[in-house]
Amino acid sequence: MTTTPEAPPTGSLMTTLPGRFYTDPEIFRQEQERVFESLWFCAVRCADLDKPGAFRTVQIGRESVLITRSRSGELRAFLNICRHRGARLCTRESGEVRRALQCPYHAWTYDLDGKLVAAPNLSKMPDVDRSAYGLVKVALREWLGYAWVCLADEPPSFEESVIGAAVERLGDAASIESYGTERLALGKRVTYDVRANWKLIVENFMECYHCATIHPELTDVLPEFTDGFAAQYYVGHGASFGEEVSGFTVDGSAGFGRLPEVAEEQDRRYYAITIKPAVFVNLVPDHVILHRMFPLAADRTVVECDWLYAPEVVASGVDLAKSVELFHRVNEQDFEACERTQPAMASRAYRAGGVLVPTEHHIGLFHAWLTERLA
Ligand code: FES
Ligand code: FE
Repeated sequence: MTTTPEAPPTGSLMTTLPGRFYTDPEIFRQEQERVFESLWFCAVRCADLDKPGAFRTVQIGRESVLITRSRSGELRAFLNICRHRGARLCTRESGEVRRALQCPYHAWTYDLDGKLVAAPNLSKMPDVDRSAYGLVKVALREWLGYAWVCLADEPPSFEESVIGAAVERLGDAASIESYGTERLALGKRVTYDVRANWKLIVENFMECYHCATIHPELTDVLPEFTDGFAAQYYVGHGASFGEEVSGFTVDGSAGFGRLPEVAEEQDRRYYAITIKPAVFVNLVPDHVILHRMFPLAADRTVVECDWLYAPEVVASGVDLAKSVELFHRVNEQDFEACERTQPAMASRAYRAGGVLVPTEHHIGLFHAWLTERLA
């Protein structure tokens, strides 16, 4: 016989969200609408679209968004929908067109600024106003070398909701912008298809209670993570490398030179920042690791992780394997833990949720932020 959990414990003990928040398709639909389609969403690395006509499509909430570089060199974002009869315009995830985007259904054609420029027999259809049937534009901002897009009719302030929030979380000890992320080059990208709700991945990233149990390589490099109470590392003091450690690598061997504007007090330190709703940034002296999450279903999230280095490091062809391997293992360990947790979210044992230990009060703030948005 099983017992149904009682109401959440009272007193100062904090609980997680109830299990249904991680499984219910209706709650996921609300999150798509009120979180992913309403806030700024980090969509693509600008340098991936390196010439006019290069494009990438990404799923944001319930919409497919097309990001492309125009002839004048600017990035533009549009809903990836043909205005004729609604066919998906670009069916590939990435690619390049020469001058224009042509719908595969009846060949309506749009220039790289989204303007309707041609259609079969368009001259015989005087009622079709070309200027009224261009692609639907989506707001776009560039920051840290990434294109951030927002589907809302009236996007929230980018300065407050993205830049301000990231800086606030990092505290005064370091500046995220001093890592010059927009000038760095992509050394490695790994895409993880994680069978878990996006919030399990956020919550995992926001706590270090698990570090001693599942991250042996990381705790060797950052010994203070052996103590699960080091969770405040996310707010800005930076976690120090161990005395014997030369660099942020899988075996603690030397990495590469410190990035030029990284301050002395940021050397030999690791900072981690969550930019709600779907970005994690890790800063170490010689590289930046940036995760973008694409929540696709209540139980499925694609995570794209970029390892970014000084351009001369990448151009030199030096072996990045030991540098990349450390956080690749961390990712695999974290995502395996999330996938192990996901099926249990539907269990009656988790109906009233789980427990947040005292150092995880910031996860409680994340839950409060989310439930307020869904209210
Ligand atoms: Fe695109 Fe007809 S739906 S041209
Ligand atoms: Fe972890």
